[in-house]
Amino acid sequence: MRKAVCLALMLTVLLGLTGCGGKQETAEEPKLLLGFSQLGSESSFRIGNTKDIEEQAEACGISLMMKNANQKQEKQIADIRSLIAYRVDVIAFSPIVEEGWDTVLTEAKNAGIPVVLVDRTIQTRDDSLYAAQIGSDFYREGVMAAEYLIRKADQLGMDRVNIVEIRGTENSTPMKQRQQGFMDTIAGDVRMRVLDSADGDFLRSRGAECMREMLKTHGNQINAVFSHNDEMTIGALPEIEAAGYAPGKDILLISIDGGQDAIDILKEGKINCIVECTPKLGSVLMETAVKLKNGEAVERVIHPEERIFTDDEDLSLLAPRGY
Ligand code: AHR
Repeated sequence: MRKAVCLALMLTVLLGLTGCGGKQETAEEPKLLLGFSQLGSESSFRIGNTKDIEEQAEACGISLMMKNANQKQEKQIADIRSLIAYRVDVIAFSPIVEEGWDTVLTEAKNAGIPVVLVDRTIQTRDDSLYAAQIGSDFYREGVMAAEYLIRKADQLGMDRVNIVEIRGTENSTPMKQRQQGFMDTIAGDVRMRVLDSADGDFLRSRGAECMREMLKTHGNQINAVFSHNDEMTIGALPEIEAAGYAPGKDILLISIDGGQDAIDILKEGKINCIVECTPKLGSVLMETAVKLKNGEAVERVIHPEERIFTDDEDLSLLAPRGY
C-alpha cells in the first residue's frame, strides 16, 4: 500500500515537472528537493519523527536536506536561511517556539519557496508565510488527558485530586495547547486542584529535577502528575519511587506521546495513561511537498488521528510503536 502511494507520488512529481514552464529535468537532477529543519533530538518522539521523515522521503524518491537545530531557535533560523540559499523546492520545519519566524519566512516567500510547518505551529502577522501545517491537535491531547483523570477519580472515589504539572518547552505549541486543553477540562470539576506547575523543557533530566523539587515542596499532597511528554515522565518516575511512593498507585501518572518505553512502563502499571502524539508525519509531508512543487492546492491544517492508552485496557496485542 505504502509502495503504491509512493509510486503515485513519484509519478505526480514527474508529470508535474514535465508540465512546468518548460524546465527540462535531467536524470541527475532530484525530482524534488525538500529541506527540513528539525528542532532537536530531545525525545524519542523527536528521534522517531526525524527517522520517519527520512524513511518516507527515501521511499518516495524525494531528496532530503536535513538540518538539526539542537534546541536553539537562532540555529533553526540559520538552518532555514541555508535551505533558502540552497534553493530547495520546499522548506518544512518543526518550530521550536511559536514566535519569531516572520523575518526568515518572508525571506523564503521572497525566494518563492513554499513552507510547511511540521508538528508545531507559529504565531504570525502574515498567514501567507506558510502553506500548510501538519501536526497533532495538542489542545485535544490536553482534553483527553484531563478526561482520563476525571474518569479515574470517579472510579477510585476520590473527593480531592491534587495535581502537579510538568510542562514542555516554554512558548512551544504543545506546551501551550496541552496546558490549555487540560485546564479547561478540569475547570468544571471541583475535586481538581493544581498544586504546582514547572518547566521540564520536554527533557528527561528536567522532568526528574521538576519532580524532585515538587516532591520536596508538596510531599504526600500530590495525587496526580500531568506530564507533557513521555521523556519527562520517565525522568520523574525514579524520583517518585525514591521519595517512597508507588507510581501508578500512590501517585497517578498521565503522560503524552506513546513511545515504546513509556508503553512498556504503562503495561507494568507505573504509568496510568498515555495520550498518543504520533511522530509519523512523514508520508503526509511528502504528499504535501509534491503538491506544492506542482503548484497544486493543499490542505491548510492536517491533524493525524490519535488515541489514548490506559491502565484499564489490554495492550498485550498492541503493535510495536516504532519510536
Ligand atoms: O511537539 C511534540 C512534542 O515535542 C512531543 O510531545 C515531545 O516529546 C517533543 O519533544
